[in-house]
Amino acid sequence: MANSFGVKLQSLLPKLGGIYPFSAPITTTNSVPCSSEARASKNSRIVGKRRAFGCRVHRRVVLGIGVSLWSQFMSMAGSFSGKSFMASARQKGEIEQVLKNVEWPEQFPFKDEDFQRFDESSDTLFYEMPRFVTHIDNQAIAALTKYYSEVLPSSNTPGVAILDMCSSWVSHYPAGYKQERIVGMGLNEEELKRNPVLTEYVVQDLNNNPKLPFGNNTFDVITNVVSVDYLTKPLDVFKEMSRVLKPAGLAIMSFSNRCFWTKAISIWTSTGDADHVMIVGSYFHYAGGFEPPQAVDISPNPGRSDPMYIVYSRKMATS
Ligand SMILES: C[S@@+](CC[C@H](N)C(=O)[O-])C[C@H]1O[C@@H](n2cnc3c(N)ncnc32)[C@H](O)[C@@H]1O
Repeated sequence: MANSFGVKLQSLLPKLGGIYPFSAPITTTNSVPCSSEARASKNSRIVGKRRAFGCRVHRRVVLGIGVSLWSQFMSMAGSFSGKSFMASARQKGEIEQVLKNVEWPEQFPFKDEDFQRFDESSDTLFYEMPRFVTHIDNQAIAALTKYYSEVLPSSNTPGVAILDMCSSWVSHYPAGYKQERIVGMGLNEEELKRNPVLTEYVVQDLNNNPKLPFGNNTFDVITNVVSVDYLTKPLDVFKEMSRVLKPAGLAIMSFSNRCFWTKAISIWTSTGDADHVMIVGSYFHYAGGFEPPQAVDISPNPGRSDPMYIVYSRKMATS
């Protein structure tokens, strides 16, 4: 049976429509649980509180009605296994089901306001100061590195080129991993300079200029760690990813439930983990040129460490 767009965003909306507290928790990484669900979790590693703007504002007023079109599809399609995706996501193994046999709507179901952020100031400014921190806990990083060790081309494979998008001073590749060409793209040059795995880097704001400065069929693999939620023109970026990947090249988007929430897109901060899987899957689907996306839950210790999800796809071998 075809999969549904299970999340009942409709039922979520009244909750989201309430007062959205601006007192953002500070963690050791400055990123916070991304969704309202995750922020409420007892397991979030909150170590302090900061009143970011000293006021309380109705988020939906700021960002517009946002997810309306998406929620229409959700309600048309019913629920996933009789539960919302958010409930389902807690059960190991169900994340993998999210992208199985999806009946995608004909048109990309998001609107411009779904890609607005609370903080629409320059991303370059936001990332001006280097942050030599990690944004997920050590167990989540270890799970990602292990996953990479299973799917990346072996170290030092002749001719292999990799692009790490939204990169920083770490890429989380296996220790000592090397390829002829590993390009990092990001917004902070100090961070990129310090990343030992990169052979070169490019500083570029993908929300201003989503065009990737590389030729067609350049890369074997593209990675993007805990940052796909900051892309405000994801379809443009994913089309570019398809262009610069070699045929059958692999794109790996990984994310947790943490983010700089003022910089994450509205549709992301309004929804839960399994919705995020569907959202990223939709980017691959609607960008075109990719095989059907798939999801993997590599969360190392559900409930006790940061969750970690992968949505990946290969560029079609014939495109
Ligand atoms: C949460 S950090 C993640 C960094 C790194 N991938 C990691 O795993 O630690 C978000 C990253 O996304 C990049 N980023 C955010 N907005 C961006 C934009 N508009 N264009 C390009 N890169 C962006 C930043 O440079 C930053 O390195």
